[in-house]
Amino acid sequence: MKTVSGFSKMSKEQKIEWLSEQLQGDSSALVKNLNLYWHQDQEVQKRFDEFSENTLTNYDLPFGLSPNFLINGKVYSVPMVIEESSVVAAASLGAKFWLDRGGFHAKVISTRKVGQVHFQWQGEKSKLVNFFEEARIRLLSSVESITANMEKRGGGIVGLSLVDMTDKIENYYQIKVECETCNAMGANFINSILEEMAQVFKREVMMDSRFENTEKEVHIIMCILSNYTPDCVVECSVECPIDELGTVNGLSAREFAEKFATAVRIAEVDPNRAVTHNKGIMNGIDAVVLATGNDFRAIEACAHAYAARDGQYRSLSTVSLAGDKFKFSIRIPLAVGTVGGLTSLHPLAKTSLAILENPTAPELMQVMAAVGLAQNFGAVRSLVTTGIQKGHMKLHLLNILNQLGATPEQIEEGKTHFSDKVVSFTAVRNFLTQSVHTH
Ligand code: MEV
Repeated sequence: MKTVSGFSKMSKEQKIEWLSEQLQGDSSALVKNLNLYWHQDQEVQKRFDEFSENTLTNYDLPFGLSPNFLINGKVYSVPMVIEESSVVAAASLGAKFWLDRGGFHAKVISTRKVGQVHFQWQGEKSKLVNFFEEARIRLLSSVESITANMEKRGGGIVGLSLVDMTDKIENYYQIKVECETCNAMGANFINSILEEMAQVFKREVMMDSRFENTEKEVHIIMCILSNYTPDCVVECSVECPIDELGTVNGLSAREFAEKFATAVRIAEVDPNRAVTHNKGIMNGIDAVVLATGNDFRAIEACAHAYAARDGQYRSLSTVSLAGDKFKFSIRIPLAVGTVGGLTSLHPLAKTSLAILENPTAPELMQVMAAVGLAQNFGAVRSLVTTGIQKGHMKLHLLNILNQLGATPEQIEEGKTHFSDKVVSFTAVRNFLTQSVHTH
């Protein structure tokens, strides 16, 4: 590829043309494909183009629905956006299984988020501490124009402190701002507060006569919210008498419960297993995060940091078998919003929220935690009974058949043929070649 300047200024057609000129050989199929996924409605397409930069086309993912989630007595049908086969099926099965056993019990523990002004300052520490205490009210009122609306909705700044980090990095301090952001994810809100407050703080130190000339310079390093939100956390659990688990794929209820509990404990003690275990949880959570237009990178980064909060990476879910009761729980930080950002701009994110009957952010946290738990339950249940490949391969087979251009008849024949055989790309290709010869 050649380098290019002014790419962002080109129209979409010009960008695609430029790209096709760079590629060796006939690029007409590539161009056709890029054009194929544009929205016909120009207004809609314009909106998608504006989400990001240098857009060439749109990238589709399946949007599915997982019904029957009984959470705190209310039934939800949960929209899920995910490309991986079996995820929506497993969530739906998990939801159905627990629907008959009291459903999911979810509780938001807290919804506090944090932003940090990172700065360096050289001088006598106690002077800065005293100054900060005295300047606190002024710092808060300096951002009133930003916080006023949020306060009307019941949120705003709920904590402001100076954090001494000089034992880690020379002269390094933080202003820690804790916020309640109601139904918004709150990134813009928090970042705006931080940037404004940093400037006011810098100016006030500069002008304060308590500081020597050598102490007047606050060197702002950066202002940014933290995506680590251990205080924006939700708990969710399912429970039933062990006997009510029923016979699970040939295992008695007690055998299943014990095997299941051991599998979860393995994920508590072994990071190798824990990452895969938590990946299964995130299969469900990310799908709802995506469907509702939330930030899956933030959710992922935070969930995994939280899973390692005691110094070792562990399972986000836990199981207890006390007496005759099976209880399976998850505790996970989920900083999500139901207003603002993509949630209000992406037409399908809006639709997802409508399907969920326009939940508050805490309600959405509960739904996501339930889906994560259902997903985890489904995955571990398969792992300790039939193995994961059986269910996976059924759907995977369909993907391979479609990928290889199978006709509807070949798809039906393929399903029968592979019902008792191992599915692989090569085996499916051979099957199709054979089927072409026999027809
Ligand atoms: C696959 O996407 C997810 C699983 O590996 C999760 C797990 O192992 O628990 C099945």
